[in-house]
Amino acid sequence: MKIDHIGYLVKNIEKARSSFAALGFLEITDMCRDEYRKVDIIFLEKDGYVVELVSPYAPDSVVADLLKKVKNMPYHFCYQVEDLAEESARLRKEGFVPIDDPKEAPALGRRRVCFLQSARIGMIELLEEGKE
Ligand code: NI
Repeated sequence: MKIDHIGYLVKNIEKARSSFAALGFLEITDMCRDEYRKVDIIFLEKDGYVVELVSPYAPDSVVADLLKKVKNMPYHFCYQVEDLAEESARLRKEGFVPIDDPKEAPALGRRRVCFLQSARIGMIELLEEGKE
């Protein structure tokens, strides 16, 4: 499972973009609106680290409550997997609980993702790369 990116929750994505630019991050995608999760997303990269800025644009966004709680914070690592069902079944046995059904992610070329919660380490995301 390679790490794909680190998800970073921010209140104001425009201001966050300019702060990350000041730190030397380059933007590697255009801004994308995920209408299912009601978030705006843009991917940045520096020194091989890929950061996904995520910002809710509506009060009923899936991360609106989380943002209130944690403010501006990294909040998930995303791991590339070959088979979403297989890996989530394996991780379920290790104490990870799926918190949504696998869904296409518009910001990730419509590949399927799912989120799991661990009482020990918080939230993770799995991204299906597909079998070669
Ligand atoms: Ni992510």
